[in-house]
Amino acid sequence: MVNRVPNPDDLEPIERASLDELRSLQLERMKWSIAHAYENSAPYRAKCKAADVTPSDLKTLEDLRHFPFTVKDDLRQSYPFGMFAVPQRDVVRIHASSGTTGKPTVVGYTKNDIDVWATVVARSIRASGGGPGDKVHVAYGYGLFTGGLGAHYGAEKLGCTVIPMSGGQTPKQVQLIVDFEPDIIMLTPSYMLNIADEFERQGLDPAQSSLQVGIFGAEPWGDAMRSEIETRCGLDAVDIYGLSEVIGPGVANECIETKDGPTIWEDHFYPEIINPESGEPVEDGAMGELVFTSLTKEALPIIRYRTRDLTRLLPGVARPMRRMDKITGRSDDMLIIRGVNVFPTQIEERVLALKELAPHYQIRVSRDGRMDVVTIYVEKTVDAAAADAVEIAGRLQKDVKDYIGVSATVEVGACGAVVRSEGKAVRVIDERES
Ligand code: DLL
Repeated sequence: MVNRVPNPDDLEPIERASLDELRSLQLERMKWSIAHAYENSAPYRAKCKAADVTPSDLKTLEDLRHFPFTVKDDLRQSYPFGMFAVPQRDVVRIHASSGTTGKPTVVGYTKNDIDVWATVVARSIRASGGGPGDKVHVAYGYGLFTGGLGAHYGAEKLGCTVIPMSGGQTPKQVQLIVDFEPDIIMLTPSYMLNIADEFERQGLDPAQSSLQVGIFGAEPWGDAMRSEIETRCGLDAVDIYGLSEVIGPGVANECIETKDGPTIWEDHFYPEIINPESGEPVEDGAMGELVFTSLTKEALPIIRYRTRDLTRLLPGVARPMRRMDKITGRSDDMLIIRGVNVFPTQIEERVLALKELAPHYQIRVSRDGRMDVVTIYVEKTVDAAAADAVEIAGRLQKDVKDYIGVSATVEVGACGAVVRSEGKAVRVIDERES
């Protein structure tokens, strides 16, 4: 597929700039950003003092490695606004992301931050093949979550017609897609599959809809999921990445012409990959934890934020800026099952490899005495309704053992048996702690 490719003349000049120009802009902005955080965010200044560094120690981009990391817990400790670096009257918007425990992480934006955010999301939609006049159906949740409003402002900035549907009300999502005929849809990949099911429940073929492009993110998804969605929904599926602490969606976005991992909008967000154990930066190409430094953000400058996302940096292809590989998982998502490290995306790959199974799954981990017990819940596709559930379960169980090295019980239900997502899918229920 690849229905649309952006016209190079429509790109922003920085998207076509040489690497030298980009690096020099990054250095100038990084100096500003570190000085701004140091002078105006007391918690970050305290960290710098403890590490015995000052903004004047940053002379080259490589010097960034001497500065302290920021972690989610720093934001929690200064809850709600302690790390903000501008007076409250200059903050025009707040968002928050809830973790599994404790208080939410709160982020803030100045008017200029909102404009930068809209610019990078507009750039992301353009990289996905969108342009002025396109109708964009936004089914990311609106509210404290950055997905809905982030997509919304970006689409408006690009000159699109926005349909701010938000998440949920799945039958209505289908109705609006059929009646309003959007060109582009923005939502989590798991929710796209849920909407595709709803099309079929209503006797409609999702591949016949007006949608040409889907911009999917907010949760990990692999290339098997991409093929599944593209075939079923008849659209180009591209990956959008971001996180609230760094700005929201639009930190990086895949270019539709190559679909080879999100291009990082490096003029605003400087990436590093570190060894998650030692904290030392690794070379481009090596796997590790993704770390970001914001270069232009005013309300909440974020220096060396540890995302916990595991990936690697790759050279630019469709743009000079570097790409990130698809995220294999988060270090805090990684399950350790009887000593074996397992990411939900590895299980997803095995589920999608069996044609009788629908692409919905959930993993439950519990404990029997001192043994970890894993159950994988999956379901048959409509076409495979008559297939033998026990036989399919046996095959998935063998695949998971052979490819991942973990023994699991598999329960194959009828179509609709696995709980559906309306936003970020809950892939793992870990009952071991409780
Ligand atoms: O999920 C922002 C977003 C909204 C991104 C809409 C894309 C689209 P948070 O709720 O703070 O922000 O969650 C951020 O979600 O650290 C990743 O673990 C995961 N994530 C986001 N995008 C992707 C992606 C939004 N494309 C966390 N692939 C991040 C894999 C992703 N994981």
